[in-house]
Amino acid sequence: MSSKKYFVEVDSLAKRYPSKEGELTVFENANFGIEKGEFVCIIGHSGCGKSTILNVLAGLDSATDGGVIMNGKEVSGPSLERGVIFQNYSLLPWRSALKNITFGVQARFPQWSKDKVIEHSLKFLELVGLQGVEHRKPSQLSGGMRQRVSIARAFATQPQLLLMDEPFGALDALTRGVIQEELLKIWNETHQTVFMITHDVDEAILLADRILLMTNGPYARIAESVKVSIPRPRERNTIIHHPAYYKIRNHLVDFLVSRSKELSGNNTDNEGMQSSEFKPVEVDPAEGIAAEPVQINSEGVAVPA
Ligand SMILES: Nc1ncnc2c1ncn2[C@@H]1O[C@H](COP(=O)(O)OP(=O)(O)OP(=O)(O)O)[C@@H](O)[C@H]1O
Ligand SMILES: [Mg+2]
Repeated sequence: MSSKKYFVEVDSLAKRYPSKEGELTVFENANFGIEKGEFVCIIGHSGCGKSTILNVLAGLDSATDGGVIMNGKEVSGPSLERGVIFQNYSLLPWRSALKNITFGVQARFPQWSKDKVIEHSLKFLELVGLQGVEHRKPSQLSGGMRQRVSIARAFATQPQLLLMDEPFGALDALTRGVIQEELLKIWNETHQTVFMITHDVDEAILLADRILLMTNGPYARIAESVKVSIPRPRERNTIIHHPAYYKIRNHLVDFLVSRSKELSGNNTDNEGMQSSEFKPVEVDPAEGIAAEPVQINSEGVAVPA
């Protein structure tokens, strides 16, 4: 790692499993940092080890080599300082939407009065558009609504690090779009530090400050750290007109289609990837473009400011 101190520091992380042929290395030499308040997405093909990395960050799984330091302390188990949103919502089925949130908030802030806990929880339910259904149980909510409750719960408990494993994976495209905007809204209010897995490049560009790209496994690596230099606030309908958008998008798609395989750790042509000091290459696909300040005009097109 560089000498710069990050809020979260992931150092030489590797995961290996015993197998009949000896040892299976899923990924190795994962080195990256996350700054306080930064929104980082990670993209890579299925099986490269994204969920494993997220679970190690959460303290729910352990790495074979390397470690994670958050705020100067080694991560060695789960903590209320780290909130996790899984793909399958994981709400408590016997509690109402509101009580699913107050439960987490009360645990996180035991000194708060009951009224304060409820008021705070309702505010976050409102941010995801669920005012009016707060007394329904999860079984009385749609999949999209349940996912909104889990997002509201995670943000309401204000963990120092929020970890999301494909939080919108099970949703249809329309609901997904709406909830992405709600997530942006809630993030704009709180500026949480977020680490999120997604398979959707457009979602990553909309949400992230930086996108980590993982090569295919086995011996997967985090090969690139791609900067999303598109100003905030961002909106789904207008961001596609920003001159940097397709530069970034094409870079990501090209990685997933070709470089993720070419750069994979078990490709013997890749001398540079074999080093134990391996660090992701920092890329700004839109360098120069975003230097010119732009504004979005009434037709949703980016024009010089
Ligand atoms: N107990 C185990 N023994 C051997 N291999 C395992 C074991 N558990 C997980 N793996 C392997 O670890 C790899 C990484 O799994 P992980 O769930 O982190 O991938 P992922 O990148 O999140 O994939 P997806 O995008 O499909 O969710 C997979 O290839 C999986 O086969
Ligand atoms: Mg996964």
